[in-house]
Amino acid sequence: MERQSTVTLKFLAEPSDVNLYGNVHGGSVMKWIDQAGYACSVGWCGKFCVTVFVSGIRFYRPIHIGHLVEVTGRLIYTGRTSMHITVEVKAADPRDGQYTRTTQCIVVFVAIDADGKPVEVPAWEPKTDEEKSMRDYAVRLMELRKGIEAQVGPLGTE
Ligand SMILES: CC(C)(COP(=O)(O)OP(=O)(O)OC[C@H]1O[C@@H](n2cnc3c(N)ncnc32)[C@H](O)[C@@H]1OP(=O)(O)O)[C@@H](O)C(=O)NCCC(=O)NCCS
Repeated sequence: MERQSTVTLKFLAEPSDVNLYGNVHGGSVMKWIDQAGYACSVGWCGKFCVTVFVSGIRFYRPIHIGHLVEVTGRLIYTGRTSMHITVEVKAADPRDGQYTRTTQCIVVFVAIDADGKPVEVPAWEPKTDEEKSMRDYAVRLMELRKGIEAQVGPLGTE
């Protein structure tokens, strides 16, 4: 079976996604990001997955209601039970179909068993130079996160 390491969702931004300024609500974009990350991680490992971490979400441009939206999840690193995925959101006026990047972030999903415990995922090996550079990026981010937590401690208390 060929495993899928990328997934693209395509749809129209609907009036129910509107914010106070007439564009798409940030919460709708975050939901689409989570959905693309979920489809990408489950497609890769063939198991149920949950979001464990979302990092570096950047909203570059607003998305207009009625515009075409493409949300692409791309696997860039696998650990023992986790999958790191870049999600890029693009939007276009359907009259010209010219897509521009609106949002980007990295999400981490973990595969779980029926009891909600993390389970191993198949390893993903980068092949192209671009994939290797994205894998290195994910590793650098992980190291930076550990460094930040070591410096400032965990956020909040359990
Ligand atoms: C995800 C979950 C099952 C992990 O359970 P856990 O006992 O913390 O598991 P572990 O500590 O063994 O970590 C599991 C993996 O998550 C990764 N992980 C944990 N915290 C992380 C973080 N802050 N950033 C990135 N990865 C993280 C670990 O590195 C590990 O990956 P690896 O096996 O590839 O090395 C558990 O935290 C959970 O159920 N969280 C809620 C998930 C959820 O409901 N999400 C929906 C959003 S509301």
